[in-house]
Amino acid sequence: MSSAKKGRFIVFEGLDGSGKGTQIRLLEKRLSEIGRSVALTAEPTDSALGGIIRDALSGDPVRSPSELAAIFLSDRIRHCSDKKKGIKVLLESGKDVICDRYYFSSFAYQGIDTDIDWVIDMNLNCPEIIRPDICIFLDVDPDTCMERIDSSRAFTEIYEKASTLSRIRKRFFDVFERLGDTENIMIVDASRSPEEISEEIANALSRL
Ligand code: TYD
Repeated sequence: MSSAKKGRFIVFEGLDGSGKGTQIRLLEKRLSEIGRSVALTAEPTDSALGGIIRDALSGDPVRSPSELAAIFLSDRIRHCSDKKKGIKVLLESGKDVICDRYYFSSFAYQGIDTDIDWVIDMNLNCPEIIRPDICIFLDVDPDTCMERIDSSRAFTEIYEKASTLSRIRKRFFDVFERLGDTENIMIVDASRSPEEISEEIANALSRL
């Protein structure tokens, strides 16, 4: 990563329905209040590749896990390196970047059905892909996530089944154990109130 990086790169991860959106908004507010300039972003992105991914997540067309891992990778490369609004440019301009999902999602979601070593290698060894300063994982049990998804939306995506979410959650934990020495990962019990969770995250970030 460029030595010109000035902002912090904060990634939120969690199962679908784990409350990332709420925590991202609360953190943005806290950081803005202490005078930080914050940029919010997310994966899949709103690029043409993001559109291809969203179609696949809805199940039409059906894409293989490896194909999906490769499309997410391409979307991520562009997300990092876009000359106007890429993560690298934002960090170099001094903004803190908060990203809703990043390569840990590829490891956990695509990693349940394809070669996880290949997915990890191609992301971590890609020169354009930036390492986050911290990954905050919001841990909520899969049944609660499914209840939240069912009550908030009329449609579900390909991963949104309790049994699949359980496998993905396990994969997240396998990955965190494996990468714990090289990645800064914070696991948060996200079954508590949004305010309590936000407080814990803010305390951890103040030590960054
Ligand atoms: P989306 O509905 O856009 O948002 P949310 O994060 O709120 O669930 O869902 C994104 C989906 O894409 C989610 O099911 C996780 C999945 N995903 C992957 O499978 N691999 C990835 O690399 C990323 C970034 C996301």
